[in-house]
Amino acid sequence: MAPTPAPPAAAAAAAATPKTDPKTLHNIGDRRLNYDAGELIEEHVDATDPMAQFRAWYEAAEAAWHPGLPREANAMSLATADARGRPHCRIVLLKHYDADGFVFYTNHTSRKGVELAENPYAALVFLWDQRSVRVEGPVVHVGDDEAAAYFASRPRGSQIGAWASKQSQPISGRGALAARFEAAEARFAPVGLPVVPKPPFWGGYRVVPERIEFWHGRPCRMHDRLVFTRSPVSEAAEATTTVWGPWSMQRLMP
Ligand SMILES: Cc1cc2nc3c(=O)[nH]c(=O)nc-3n(C[C@H](O)[C@H](O)[C@H](O)COP(=O)(O)O)c2cc1C
Repeated sequence: MAPTPAPPAAAAAAAATPKTDPKTLHNIGDRRLNYDAGELIEEHVDATDPMAQFRAWYEAAEAAWHPGLPREANAMSLATADARGRPHCRIVLLKHYDADGFVFYTNHTSRKGVELAENPYAALVFLWDQRSVRVEGPVVHVGDDEAAAYFASRPRGSQIGAWASKQSQPISGRGALAARFEAAEARFAPVGLPVVPKPPFWGGYRVVPERIEFWHGRPCRMHDRLVFTRSPVSEAAEATTTVWGPWSMQRLMP
């Protein structure tokens, strides 16, 4: 399946962003919600297991999701920093979580991939209605077998797209991108290649949590914030084999 062709020039012009009055553009100071639905109190949280709390909130967000909402429940902001310490942030999809960490998939040669090679540490943020979760920690590569198994589960069009895109590199236009997609499609079209293999430059990253914060909006900006932290007992070259001490929980002021 080829990607949607570029729209004709007239349609593109009609769809162009309309000009706005710069004076009214920034007048959003009165945009605010009253956070009055629910709370997060110590008595309802297992202070030794933030992943249990994450799971409870994630599943609630999934259950509440419907097509009218602006984002998938597993969409999260991913912040990385380059070698100079400059932060960069984008949205990716969470594809797996457990006690070992939070997994997403991407192109290793993308901007984020390059930054993670330079500085293997990341921060994630989820936003679900009146709740937010922040995760911080070292990042490791997902094993090849795990990444290949996930890649195999993707729709064929997404698999072809992974081969076609040199993610984060400039390209002359939509037509050139469509040509790259068609070339990748042709490469895997022969009957002898019914399965699209995982590109070597594509894979997963696992953010191993050392800090997880749960935020619940409350009236008068008196929000609930419970933060879990833990420290390594013994450092290992690979963060997944690091032995971590127990989690401790602390309330923060809003
Ligand atoms: C809802 C949503 C989900 C996305 N999921 C992913 C994803 O799982 N992996 C990915 O590489 N990019 C994903 N993207 C695109 C990224 O936001 C970003 O444009 C891309 O990864 C390039 O980022 P980089 O140049 O900082 O590496 C998603 C974007 C949105 C809006």
